[in-house]
Order: sequence, then C-alpha cells, then structure tokens
Amino acid sequence: MKPYVILISGRGSNMQALLQARLPGQCVAVISNRPEAAGLAWAADRGVPTRIVDHRRFPAREAFDATLAEEIEGVGGELVLLAGFMRILTPGFVERFAGRLLNIHPSLLPAFPGLNTHEAALAAGVRLHGCTVHFVTSALDSGPIIIQAAVPVLAGDTPDSLAARVLQQEHIIYPQAARAVLDGRCRLESGRVVWDDDATSADLALRVPAQ
Ligand code: GAR
Repeated sequence: MKPYVILISGRGSNMQALLQARLPGQCVAVISNRPEAAGLAWAADRGVPTRIVDHRRFPAREAFDATLAEEIEGVGGELVLLAGFMRILTPGFVERFAGRLLNIHPSLLPAFPGLNTHEAALAAGVRLHGCTVHFVTSALDSGPIIIQAAVPVLAGDTPDSLAARVLQQEHIIYPQAARAVLDGRCRLESGRVVWDDDATSADLALRVPAQ
C-alpha cells in the first residue's frame, strides 16, 4: 500500500473524505501548518499520526518548505494530498514532489484561482461553478487537471450556499482522483495527465451531478 500524507490548515473536511474513502494506500501522517487546525483532532481520534509544522516559526518560505519536506519524507510519504492547505509552496518543494503532489481547489480552474472563489464566481455572474483536483505546479492554483465537478449557480445563492454545494462535490472527486493516482491508473507524464484507460478518464474527468 503506497504511503501518503495529507496536508491541512483548518477544518479538514476534505481530509475526512479522503480518510473515510479507504483509499488503496496508507495515510502515514496528517500534517498541519497551524497547531489549532480542527482536522488534527479528528485524525488523531481515529489513530492517524499527526504532526505540526508551524509556518510562523520559520523566517522564510524556503526554510518552512524544507522542514515540511523532511517531515513528509521522514514518515515515508510518497504521495502528498493538499486538503485545504493554505500555504504557497516554493518551486523547490513542488519540484521535489513533482507528479506526487495533488491539490483540490474550489473553482473550475483556470477560473478563479486564489481565495474567495465563491464570491468571485457570484460577482462574475457565471452559471456554472465547481471544483478541481489537479497536480500541483509552482504557479498558484494551477497544474494539470485530474477531475473537475460542475455545479449550477442558482438564483439567490450566497457565497455560503454556493460553497456548500461545491464542497459536497469536493468530497466526491478528491477521493476519486487520489484513488486513481494511488492505483497508478492516472499519472503525470511530461506535464500532462495520462490515464491508463480513456474510457475511465472520460467517465471521471468531469462530474456533473443530476439536479
Ligand atoms: C476547501 O474548499 C478547499 O477546496 C479549499 O479550502 C477548503 C478547505 O476545507 N482549498 C483552497 O482554497 C486551496 N486553494 P476543508 O479544510 O474542510 O477541506
């Protein structure tokens, strides 16, 4: 079973979805950059080892990322799943884990990278919004896309109502994408996402839930 690590900064609902999905791998640690992250207690209660690398104790991003990488490698983590991990990673870190670093972002990338994606989607007046699981590259919230899920933007939506609709889909597509990568059915080759089976990829790549 391939060892993987989940990185969180807060609530950890995507982490929960990943751990409850019984992925074909072993979660060897949940690591947070914030000691107060609620997800840490949830993981610890279920016997998953937890660690804290507090970014405020480091003078520069490079030093934080170097320690984070050592922690991940120290527990034998081969795949790294960013699950609401709200730190910009240095190119050196991204390079070190190239092809082994996944992120979930609450928008249909490349639309709305960064923060406050639901406010931005409402302000732009888009009719479709959603979430994206992608391999991480050094640009913020970008990288080869593994799976996306689309949801409608409804009349009367607020950022909170839209966030809740998107989050439901995050909890479905992140485990699907992580499973495919852990199985080796999906990987990064020369900067592109390659699936073993085109039919599987077509089925999974875009999820549009029925209304
Ligand atoms: C999720 O919506 C995730 O997509 C987002 O943070 C939230 C974390 O919630 N990530 C980003 O915005 C990354 N750019 P969670 O802690 O409950 O999983």
